[in-house]
Amino acid sequence: MPDVRTQLNHVRDLFRGVGIADTFAIIENVAELLRLGDAYQPPRGMTQRQTQEVRQLLEGAADKVDGVGPLFDRHLLFRLSKILPGGRYPTPRHIVSMIFRIAEVEPSHRLCDLACGSGGFLVCRGITDGNVERTVGVEISPEWVRIARTNAYLHDVQARVEAGNALYVCGPKGELDGETFDRILLNPPFGEKLDAGLAKEVVGWNVGSRSETVFAALALSRLADGGRAAVLVPSGVLSGTGAGERELRRRLVEEHDVEAVVSLPKDAFQPFSSLQTHLLLVRKRTQSQDARTWFLQVESDGYPSGRGRDLTIDPPSFGDLPLIERVLTVRDEEVEESLPEDSPRLGIRWMSLGDGNVRGAVVQAVGANVISSAERFPAVGDEAAFVLLTVESMFGQGGDLFYVKVSLDGGTAEPLEEDPQQLIQRLYKPKSTDPNPGTSLFFKRADPVRAVAFTTGGRALGVAIPSSSTGPPQHELRPSRFVGGEEETHHAGSPTQLLSDIYKNQRLLVRHVDNLLGRLELRPIAGQEGPAPLLGDAVPFGRLSPGQEAVWRRVRDRFENLGDEGQEKAALFTLEEVDGVEPATVASDITRLTVGLLERMGIVMPVTVTDPSTGNSAAFYRLVTEKDLWLLPPKEDPLGEEGVSEQGNT
Ligand SMILES: C[S@@+](CC[C@H](N)C(=O)[O-])C[C@H]1O[C@@H](n2cnc3c(N)ncnc32)[C@H](O)[C@@H]1O
Repeated sequence: MPDVRTQLNHVRDLFRGVGIADTFAIIENVAELLRLGDAYQPPRGMTQRQTQEVRQLLEGAADKVDGVGPLFDRHLLFRLSKILPGGRYPTPRHIVSMIFRIAEVEPSHRLCDLACGSGGFLVCRGITDGNVERTVGVEISPEWVRIARTNAYLHDVQARVEAGNALYVCGPKGELDGETFDRILLNPPFGEKLDAGLAKEVVGWNVGSRSETVFAALALSRLADGGRAAVLVPSGVLSGTGAGERELRRRLVEEHDVEAVVSLPKDAFQPFSSLQTHLLLVRKRTQSQDARTWFLQVESDGYPSGRGRDLTIDPPSFGDLPLIERVLTVRDEEVEESLPEDSPRLGIRWMSLGDGNVRGAVVQAVGANVISSAERFPAVGDEAAFVLLTVESMFGQGGDLFYVKVSLDGGTAEPLEEDPQQLIQRLYKPKSTDPNPGTSLFFKRADPVRAVAFTTGGRALGVAIPSSSTGPPQHELRPSRFVGGEEETHHAGSPTQLLSDIYKNQRLLVRHVDNLLGRLELRPIAGQEGPAPLLGDAVPFGRLSPGQEAVWRRVRDRFENLGDEGQEKAALFTLEEVDGVEPATVASDITRLTVGLLERMGIVMPVTVTDPSTGNSAAFYRLVTEKDLWLLPPKEDPLGEEGVSEQGNT
């Protein structure tokens, strides 16, 4: 029995056989076939028998994966292995479903995704009550609108997907003008430039033009009372110094409840992007007295690192995401243990993942208490590794300290009956010159902490701090400001430990180097919507004639694969090759003039190749790539800090 992959390979080959080789074009065809059934018009050259064969292959594959919805959403869409121009790619589904769950979307909620792409968030709903107003998407690309509608249809989810620029659709006289939503879930395009004037008009304040900032602001402005937005953003939104980003953060902190900022691993969006991305979970202000913000760092999302992850299957290991989900969705009242029992100062909740094993803990301060330190101590003799927490009353007068020892071998917690120094002396017998054997786990600043979350391995997942501590001047929201990067307070012990640390660092370094190499060979900067950065603010493509545009489209695709890793580089081409006229002997004037224009615009560059044996030279062109741009001498940035951007997912 062929497996799903083999069956889909066969479908791909049937389309390739009639000249449709591009993965996205094949997905579009399959979407049409699945949506239209017998009314589907096969591409020219595909016989009825072949169309029938495609149908049977898809039916066979769907039977193996719980139906045609999952087949399309997981197995077909994730045959795409690179980001498409305009920042288009399906959000990896393990991220989508985690966000859907931590946003606590209920059936009665009105849900919206303002940049819905393939409709990943919409199909999570599983609502089949016929009320299309409850599940709403907006998408600028007509092709992806069709994909999203098909995806919803195949999942029996009744959804309204509006085609168009979200700024127009939500703006005055737009289809969603004045409408609000209980939940807005969003993976917006990063690094695109939007119309700042229009953004200001629609959002109501001057948010600038960066797509990620504008979309985050738009989501906030469309929340219903008590509504919640979960928006994926790059680091620039959390700490950038551009005016739009600063004002967005001020509004987030002062006018909303920022419930959590979750930093995802750099590889979480591979193979589409290696940019560090964070999830911002925000609630329209509910006037809660005790608002706190969780800052969480995910070390592993359960897939192996790098580009070669198979997103058609669930993550092969647990990773941190299920624990993060528990931290954010389990309510305060679900505290399992209070310490001390008679007048609790701490509440503890153990986290397991349904297999009976304790995998972590959330410890929260009760009432006017705060946690002022959390240190992890190594196992010694019969004593398992433990975390030692210090609790203080916000109004206490020194001396009012309470210590709790949380054992990491499966979870027990008890108040410490002796002085911590005595405990350390008793267990580790340090000499007076030895450093403290503990490792400070959570705190990077001396802010009072309301809660901490850690794994039973003693790794910090994050801290919750009073939202007021994220205040001015910068309202900086990066989790690394509060958590992570453990501060070693003792020297590495054994040579084995030292070697293992060196090995860990080495691996980290290799990942960073890979990352940089990957970026150097990214797809040429030649998206249809995005002018090359050398052009500054000019948008030339709207002014090309249809003939010029056709040449540009052929030029745009001139890149080649460097191997299995999916990396690409700009390919050499001749004028004749992009002429599009058969036989390609002499290029037409329009091709010549258009390529000349692209060269002056800094989008392509001439390359002369000389054969060393004969001395003969041949003239080629190739697209200018990110690598070329990096190699340019630095130039003055007339825009100041606005121009220094942590650019998007192209
Ligand atoms: C990262 S993708 C979203 C993927 C989506 N969450 C999914 O699961 O497929 C971002 C999407 O935003 C769309 N987009 C870009 N600019 C837009 C705009 N101004 N209005 C609406 N959609 C836009 C892109 O076409 C792209 O499909």
